[in-house]
Amino acid sequence: MTKRIFTIVLFSVFAAFPVNVTAQETPEAKAERMEWFSEAKLGIFIHWGIYSRGDWSESWAFHNKVVSVEDYFAQEKDFTADRYDPKAWVELIKESGARYTVITSKHHDGFALWDTGAGDVSSVKSSPAGRDVLTPFVNEVRAQKELKLGIYFSLIDWPHPDYPNIFRVGPAKYDIEKEPARWQRFLDFNDAQLQELNGAYHPDLYWFDGDWEFSSDQWKAPHIVSMLRETNPGVIINSRIQGNGDYATPELGVPVVRPADRWWETCMTINDSWGFRKQDTEFKSDMTILRMFVNCMSLGGNLLLDIGPRADGTIPDEEVAVLKMLGRWIHKHEEAVYPTRAGIPDGHVQGYTTLNKAGDILYVYLPYTPNETIEVKGIRSRIKKVRVVGTDRELDWNLYNDIDWSEVPGVYYINVPKDVLDEHITVLALELDSPLKLYRGSGQVISYND
Ligand code: GLC
Repeated sequence: MTKRIFTIVLFSVFAAFPVNVTAQETPEAKAERMEWFSEAKLGIFIHWGIYSRGDWSESWAFHNKVVSVEDYFAQEKDFTADRYDPKAWVELIKESGARYTVITSKHHDGFALWDTGAGDVSSVKSSPAGRDVLTPFVNEVRAQKELKLGIYFSLIDWPHPDYPNIFRVGPAKYDIEKEPARWQRFLDFNDAQLQELNGAYHPDLYWFDGDWEFSSDQWKAPHIVSMLRETNPGVIINSRIQGNGDYATPELGVPVVRPADRWWETCMTINDSWGFRKQDTEFKSDMTILRMFVNCMSLGGNLLLDIGPRADGTIPDEEVAVLKMLGRWIHKHEEAVYPTRAGIPDGHVQGYTTLNKAGDILYVYLPYTPNETIEVKGIRSRIKKVRVVGTDRELDWNLYNDIDWSEVPGVYYINVPKDVLDEHITVLALELDSPLKLYRGSGQVISYND
């Protein structure tokens, strides 16, 4: 075989069987690929589709037979997007302090927000909006240097004729083991849509959803991942693709203990719904949202906070207010947000904690008004200075029981006067004389005295 023919053969083999470019990825290379994600801390999730008229839940409403499929899809005629201002959306997201955003390109109902050539259910072909509403958003995101783009894509497409089921209970449309060609047709349809998204937007992140209905093998999940990475090698993929992703996605709850996964993100609603719902006025308070955000950071993760614009493209005032509130707090406390990493275990101080990258600043977040002092114990490194982040104030302290014969470090009592408090969460920067060393024992009895 001549060299040229060999090269062509080799190339065709690789083209037919795309290699998973991350299969051999070293832990260091993965850490580098994940770097922007671990520093981003806050993302804004957007659920937008025909369900945004606000009467019923996104997709689940027909799947659970709360409403008929016909009535659910009749909502298409109200998806006008006539007050949609993608520039204003992106400015608001930027103002919130978020470093990434994830938008639904298509939920489990199959309604695509872009001009898909793979099917007819889209904002272009089946709604009065009559246009691609995803691309203008992507363009605005791309115009902002500091914002990364995430695309949500539902693997499930319940109403699709080749998808095996539409309702949660009741007989399936068909059995994929018995009709593999029909199932493959559906997988090809998903692939075609993903190729469109990948080619047009080259997203920084894919946020898959709905993997629970089939296994990794059945979805051909490794193939999906390699296909996307072939032209978008740095892309980050969430976990909802049957174990083939890069990071974990606990939903609607900040973990209690630090997750075993190095990278994770809690997705969270502001009220009780992902998509806009007229009846849902259960908005979480500013303090609740902020506590959840700081709690995620303290455990080394991100918060992906959801907004649900209406079908006309307007964002509910309550959600706008929450994003602006986050923006005020984050911009004031920037040094204690982006470059931080997970803090220390419970028991050393009452409050959430994070560390700077070098490990010699311990940030303490106080979601309460301290009565006189806060107590910090079990810190072997010495505190040099205590600053109130976002202000020019420094605080003084007393150190008690700093005993030379004892390996148990003394206990700091830092005075926190009321006039340094933030209206939401006050942040103290404890500057240390060395990277933080903790004492985790249970005390010591005397061995000598002087
Ligand atoms: C769930 C739901 C869905 C929502 C998503 C967001 O998996 O199926 O409605 O879009 O979570 O995290």
